[in-house]
Amino acid sequence: MNSITVIGSLNIDIVVRSARVPNTGETIAGTELHIIPGGKGANQAVAASKAGAPTRMIGCIGNDAFGQELTRSLSLAGVNSEGVSILQGVTTGTATILLEETGENRIIIVPGANGQVTPQQIDALWSSVVESKMILLQMEIPLETIAYIIKKASANKIPVLLNTAPIYPLPEDLYPLIHTLVANETEAALLSGRSVTDQATALAAAKSICAKGVNTCIITLGAQGAILYNQTGSLFQPSFKVKVVDTTAAGDTFVGVYAACVLAGRTTAESMKFASAAAAIAVTRLGAQTSMPAWQEVLQFLGSVGD
Ligand code: RIB
Repeated sequence: MNSITVIGSLNIDIVVRSARVPNTGETIAGTELHIIPGGKGANQAVAASKAGAPTRMIGCIGNDAFGQELTRSLSLAGVNSEGVSILQGVTTGTATILLEETGENRIIIVPGANGQVTPQQIDALWSSVVESKMILLQMEIPLETIAYIIKKASANKIPVLLNTAPIYPLPEDLYPLIHTLVANETEAALLSGRSVTDQATALAAAKSICAKGVNTCIITLGAQGAILYNQTGSLFQPSFKVKVVDTTAAGDTFVGVYAACVLAGRTTAESMKFASAAAAIAVTRLGAQTSMPAWQEVLQFLGSVGD
């Protein structure tokens, strides 16, 4: 089936908004508290589904209200959540997000059930995974499971898009098995061993990541745009200028929409443009899954900026 399988994390985001973050030992008053569905895996599934891709989610939640809220949010976005297991004796993952007035954030994750996504769970669901045309992965589930999925997908010729967030070193033998790797500037710097500050340094980093065996590398540079590199060449997508409210899940929106566009047969240039536009809309709104635009909004946005 022409569909995407996302295997990854589901978190409830506990968002505390304040003018600034406190210093060590300091107590300050915040202005707002929000409980919002998030988690990089679930976010990317929602973004892909809203962009029109038939999408299924595989992951783990606890038997609690947070878990129920996450499956509700997936279902509202049209994501098939039959592959999300409800585990006993463990809490649903959470992310406590300190959000400053500038829109910048600091996040502390408590993985909970996300830490229990195992190769056995993947095997049990494989007959449905193998029908999909693309697998999206991030790094909020155990590395052992990520490596297992990448190897199994490669053996079954299913392209894997890995978003290397949150970053930690990847085993070298995985690179040649990854079709598309999407990293932000910090992640790209760690993976390539090069400083990444602008378009030129991002291109150099993308080339060195591809030299490890990845087919296509995309490096997102926030307000500076995004660059894609593969054997056919490189492509730079400038960012769209918007008023930033909250940058949470901008990267997830980019990844989910990019994947949906590729699945729909759009060109690389179109896919990068739609992904950037959707991410630009997402940063103008509060929260993770709550900020992701419907496809029609992406089209309207592009029309409004004359693109
Ligand atoms: O990428 C944003 C996400 O990172 C948040 O939704 C939070 O849950 C963390 O996983």
